[in-house]
Amino acid sequence: MKNAVKIFGFAILVTAFYSYVGQTVPQKITYPPESATLGADMSSAELAEAGETIISGKGTCLGCHTIGSGADPSSLRFPDLGGIGAAAATRVEGQDAVTYLAKALYEPNDFIAEGFLPGMPTINRPPIGLNDDEIKAVIAYLQTLGGEPTVTLVTDLGYTTEVSAAPTPGATAAVGSGLDGPGVFQTYLCGTCHNIDAAGALAGPSLYDVGSRLSNAEIYEAIMDPDATIADGFAGGVMPATLGATGFYTKISSEELRALVNYLSAQTGG
Ligand code: HEC
Ligand code: HEC
Repeated sequence: MKNAVKIFGFAILVTAFYSYVGQTVPQKITYPPESATLGADMSSAELAEAGETIISGKGTCLGCHTIGSGADPSSLRFPDLGGIGAAAATRVEGQDAVTYLAKALYEPNDFIAEGFLPGMPTINRPPIGLNDDEIKAVIAYLQTLGGEPTVTLVTDLGYTTEVSAAPTPGATAAVGSGLDGPGVFQTYLCGTCHNIDAAGALAGPSLYDVGSRLSNAEIYEAIMDPDATIADGFAGGVMPATLGATGFYTKISSEELRALVNYLSAQTGG
């Protein structure tokens, strides 16, 4: 009997303890709101404010970009966005700032900012997946960096995101794996389409003498923008599609790319 009382008392103590702990711990972890509340009646300035929250939050822009860092642009992996509100109008002949910024977010590989490598994720697709309204807010904010915001939620940017957008493979920052030239060549399956120590063509031209045919800049372009010039007798489209699928363009670091170009330029058919 005495034991039963003891056990009963202990049980009450334990229950009391846990309900105390339960009350001190927040009932539910609160995550930042999935999307800012954006209303069609918001002014461009209000929208820009919401955009500022998005670029440091859900948009993850500041994981890569800086704003007004003052660093030498040639030392940066990602463009500094300070002044982009004004500079955007000067990037592509005949393209106004809003059109340029919309393209930069929806079709980033359409135009690569000078001095930088591709690697900007498509913002309306997973993993970032901002919706069209959030992107308008981001653009309104970018406009304030060197200019006045004009975009509102009724602005037509010319893009409509399907809600079930398919994920973009490999949409992550270029971190690189510290590979050397031959390592990159192997890892990204270049050798499945290119001979490197013999003359015969596979799906692509042999690269055993590429260093005597192309300059470093041409080799660089042949890799980063394969369809800009298509080698005689070969088909365009295959190489960029395959490299896109292996994640080459998003994973390769600038050091690895340099090592790869140097490795290829040393192949002179000897
Ligand atoms: C994983 C890294 C990464 C993230 C995240 C990222 N960007 Fe970029 N961004 C880049 C790279 C690399 C470039 C340069 C290549 C290019 O022009 O596409 C770039 C280019 C740009 C440009 C063109 C800059 C210029 O000087 O012309 C704009 C504008 C831009 N990004 C805005 C954004 C915004 C806004 C976000 C967030 C919604 C964002 N980026 C998220 C990597 C990133
Ligand atoms: C799926 C096959 C395929 C893969 C994988 C591939 N390429 Fe290519 N590559 C081609 C084809 C086809 C061409 C010719 C058409 C063209 O110029 O775009 C080509 C052209 C080139 C050229 C220009 C050659 C010349 O003689 O003008 C270089 C350089 C090159 N590739 C390097 C690479 C590197 C480096 C890799 C790996 C990172 C790679 N390629 C992966 C198919 C491929």
